[in-house]
Amino acid sequence: MLDLEELFPNDIEVPRCLEHFDYVVKNEKDEACAYVSYTIREKELILTQFYVAPGYRHLGIGTKVMDVLSSLVGVDFIRVISTPGSAGFYGKLGFELDAGQTLMTKALIQ
Ligand SMILES: CC(C)(COP(=O)(O)OP(=O)(O)OC[C@H]1O[C@@H](n2cnc3c(N)ncnc32)[C@H](O)[C@@H]1OP(=O)(O)O)[C@@H](O)C(=O)NCCC(=O)NCCS
Repeated sequence: MLDLEELFPNDIEVPRCLEHFDYVVKNEKDEACAYVSYTIREKELILTQFYVAPGYRHLGIGTKVMDVLSSLVGVDFIRVISTPGSAGFYGKLGFELDAGQTLMTKALIQ
C-alpha cells in the first residue's frame, strides 16, 4: 500500500488552490446580458467561458467586462483559448497568440 506520509512529507509546499468564479453580467436596466467564468491560478486568470448575448453585442459590454477582469489585484496575465470567431475581439484588446502553448486533445470516443 502507498505510504502517503512518505510521499508527501510535512514540509512540502502545498500549491495554492484554484479559485473559480462565475458571474451573470447585468446592464444598467438590470437585464442579464453576458456571462463570464474564470479560474484564478496564482497570478493567472484563465477565462473559461465568456458570452455576450446576441442582442447585446458590439455595445462595448465585452470590453467593459475584460476591463474589470484586467483591474483585479494580483492578476498579471489573462489567458483564453479563443474561438476562431472571437480572436479579432481579443486581438483588439491586446491579446497575442502565445507561441509557447499548444492545445492538445485526446479523443476518448471512436
Ligand atoms: C466575442 C464577444 C465576447 C465580444 O463581446 P462584445 O460585447 O460584442 O464586444 P465589444 O462590443 O466590447 O467589442 C470590442 C471591439 O471588438 C470588436 N469585436 C467584437 N466582436 C468581435 C468579433 N467576434 N470579431 C472581431 N472583432 C470583434 C468590436 O468591433 C469592437 O471594436 P471597435 O471598438 O473597434 O468597434 C461576443 O461577441 C460573444 O459573446 N461572442 C460569442 C461567444 C464567444 O465567441 N465568446 C468568446 C469565447 S472564447
